Amino acid sequence: MEYINNELCLGPLKKPLAPLCANYMRPIYVYDLDFVTQRFQAMAKALKGVRLFYAMKANPNAEVLQRLKTLGSGADVVSLGEIKRALESGFSVQDIVYSGVGKTVHEINEALRLGIYQINVESLPELERIGKLALEAGKKAQVALRLNPDVDIKTHPYIATGLKDNKFGMELSLIPDLKKCLKNYSASIELVGISLHLGSQMLEFTGYQEALQKLKPVFKDLQKEFATLKRFDFGGGLGIFYDRLDLELEESLLQEYAKITLDTLSDLDCELQSEPGRWLLGHCGVLITQVQYIKKTSAKTFVIVDAGMNHLIRPSLYEADHMILPLGKSLENMKADIVGPICESSDFFAKDRSLGSVKEGDFVAVMDSGAYGYSMASVYNLQELPLEICI
Ligand SMILES: Cc1ncc(COP(=O)(O)O)c(C=O)c1O
Repeated sequence: MEYINNELCLGPLKKPLAPLCANYMRPIYVYDLDFVTQRFQAMAKALKGVRLFYAMKANPNAEVLQRLKTLGSGADVVSLGEIKRALESGFSVQDIVYSGVGKTVHEINEALRLGIYQINVESLPELERIGKLALEAGKKAQVALRLNPDVDIKTHPYIATGLKDNKFGMELSLIPDLKKCLKNYSASIELVGISLHLGSQMLEFTGYQEALQKLKPVFKDLQKEFATLKRFDFGGGLGIFYDRLDLELEESLLQEYAKITLDTLSDLDCELQSEPGRWLLGHCGVLITQVQYIKKTSAKTFVIVDAGMNHLIRPSLYEADHMILPLGKSLENMKADIVGPICESSDFFAKDRSLGSVKEGDFVAVMDSGAYGYSMASVYNLQELPLEICI
């Protein structure tokens, strides 16, 4: 992000954002596909030899998916809807890893019919359901066991997934039961991997390293009994900075993360897989919104914009602090709450924020909204969904 000739620009090629607002109708998510390419290539280089399955829940925009497919990515999906979108966007069933705690009978039957590359199983009843359905269908499901190592990665509690009180994955104490189930269903289930995903927005790696170390012996033990076990999927979760754009520091965190991963897992006899989402897309998108009113009360100044928590829920849901910048650079400053039109007091993008001086009709960009932005949008208050533009 950078101002050139006082215009806010996005991505490595510094594309100006203001021209996109010429016929502005409602809030717009803008994604820079060159930036996506740059991020994917940086991660693929750091995690050399690892197969990347982009976690498409972060941003399932079809052009984003097509770009990532072209670059060699697979797709990590969590619903039949995501499977369909991935297939429509050019991924093959051999590119798809299917995670999620609540797969329905219909979804599993479809995954089996299609022959999805890997189903990441999140509970014993799910494993039993897959075994039974695959048997009935005369199929052999390719499954990975998602294990929950009970470690803390020090992130927001709503995006932590690797603690024992989270609903995700299976406790290590369940391994004997899982083995029994796998053997009962040996005709219809093939164990191909183990997987983990500890949560999102991870910026330090002590818990992550601990998890890898806990799972290594489990992998080796399982491999002795299940010769088909050949993949270790270490999930996604690498974080980004929202309060600044410091790509160099993020690159060094990526290197640290890659080193821990590759050093710890190098002696396993298996293929490595990862499911990154936020790190690939977060910086590549912004949400552009228009200032409607400047409202002053005895307590505060409110900048009321036309995007709301229904368009970008991260500040309301996770107390996320996105940078907010006017599209046209302003030398003056004002302090304000930047809020949306939704009838909830949690409908804000920032509180007491220093913002370039803006007026009615100006445009501002909520930065770093490329991941978990549009994908979490709703029509609450019957507001229209934002537009999406790829540049
Ligand atoms: C199973 C799984 N894999 C990967 C991811 C991607 O995480 P992130 O966007 O933090 O990389 C998620 C996100 O919640 C997930 O649930």
